[in-house]
Amino acid sequence: MDAVLYPVNDFGPVMKGLAIGGLGIFHVFTAHFAIGGGMLLCYFQWLAMTGRSKSARAFLDGYFRYLVLISFVTGALTGVAMWFTSIQVSPVTIGLMIDEFHWLWAVEWTFFCLEVVAGYAAFKYGPQLTDRARLALLVLYSFAAWMSLFWINGILSFQLTPGAWLESRSLWDAFFNPTFLPSLFYRTVAALVVAALVAMVLINLAPTFTREEREELVHRAAWLMAPMALMPVLGVWFIAAMPPDSREWIMGGSIAMTIMLNIAIGASALVGGYALFGLIRKQLYINGATATVLCILAFAATAGGEFVREGVRKPYTLRELLYSNAVRPEQVAALREHGLTEIDPYPLRDEDKLPKLNGRPHPHLLTGALVFRQQCSVCHTTAGVNALPGLTRGWDAEMERQNFAKLQQLKPFMPPFAGTPAELESLVQFVEWWEKGRPDTWPDAAADPTEYADRLARIRRWLDEAGPHPALVRAARSDAKGGR
Ligand code: HEC
Repeated sequence: MDAVLYPVNDFGPVMKGLAIGGLGIFHVFTAHFAIGGGMLLCYFQWLAMTGRSKSARAFLDGYFRYLVLISFVTGALTGVAMWFTSIQVSPVTIGLMIDEFHWLWAVEWTFFCLEVVAGYAAFKYGPQLTDRARLALLVLYSFAAWMSLFWINGILSFQLTPGAWLESRSLWDAFFNPTFLPSLFYRTVAALVVAALVAMVLINLAPTFTREEREELVHRAAWLMAPMALMPVLGVWFIAAMPPDSREWIMGGSIAMTIMLNIAIGASALVGGYALFGLIRKQLYINGATATVLCILAFAATAGGEFVREGVRKPYTLRELLYSNAVRPEQVAALREHGLTEIDPYPLRDEDKLPKLNGRPHPHLLTGALVFRQQCSVCHTTAGVNALPGLTRGWDAEMERQNFAKLQQLKPFMPPFAGTPAELESLVQFVEWWEKGRPDTWPDAAADPTEYADRLARIRRWLDEAGPHPALVRAARSDAKGGR
């Protein structure tokens, strides 16, 4: 088996997937603001220099530009943090993506550099420049910021819908994949909305504006939210371009996904309804408190949307190519013969806390902990979010054996079990030991060799019954390759 194992970090009660997802939500929100903020500054600059608005200039010289500065600095920092988290959670995933998108990522970084330089120059020297030069600088900043979205969007949407790339292996098929356009447009609209809402909060906070000036500025900013009318169409387009099994997760197949999607839709509908009917159609005013509430709703929509986008890929991090636990689909059958725990060179973090058997760390619990780390820990913890011993509470060991062996049938968003029957039995022992409150002594599961051999044979039979394939295989593929 030519498997390469990488060391992965353990985030305690926070499951690995959540560590990266949580950071991702914050990163995306600030990055969206940095992009939309640039566009809003361009628009206000144009309003000011063409004499369409008298107070736009004061707004431009106010606090908003500090926020844009802060957002691209935090965007950059959380972006780097994303890299550090990815390599600790799934080095294999990020490694594959770097292999595939090497040069495109380099292009993204050049745009990012341009964004940082243009943004900083606009912030530092904007007030001293002529109107035209100032506008040019702001347009350059916004363009560069949007282009970095353009490039990263292709790379991220590839994870969910690799599309024609699966057959052609062409970089451009990977990049311009089926969800590329809907998510690019959706994110652009979201960026404008976030920027407009933050601007409305600030317009209300600034002490120098009169009520008329405020009203005028709010209504100008509200226009940036008009594209929200497209959101339902873009959302449906995105969902239609998604693989059918992923679509099932959000339509009730996975409760967490369905709830998150509904939060995203509900929050967006509230913001969109207020913007389109209240602010644009009825020309209502919005006060600071309401604008803040809408900002929070926009954050909730972003969080829900990102959670769903990350979650619907399950059981893959790269659809069809790599399971979330870094096992490749085509490796499963071989792993069921040889396993991976014996070649795992990395020490176990609480190995000394395991009970001893014959003076050494209990071999089954040790193996079980390694199986858990390799195959389950990306989505489960031992005592925290989605804790495995909590989910199996009340099950007897035999039920665990059968369900772990048929993992992909238990919940189709889990990958098939990829280890030997002995490894699976060790995992059951490990989970039972946690369920029983981690006692200091633990019996030898193989004390009775005949019974142990029977048990492994039963597990082998269940593994064979479930087969090595994921629960839901792409229709075209299963026809061609005689899959499930
Ligand atoms: C791709 C992510 C992922 C991986 C990898 C994964 N699981 Fe799960 N598992 C989930 C999710 C999500 C749930 C649903 C939790 C819920 O319903 O609240 C779940 C639920 C479960 C349940 C409860 C099912 C039920 O119907 O009550 C068990 C048992 C379980 N997982 C075992 C495992 C084992 C054992 C492994 C490792 C061999 C594993 N899982 C790997 C995501 C995963």
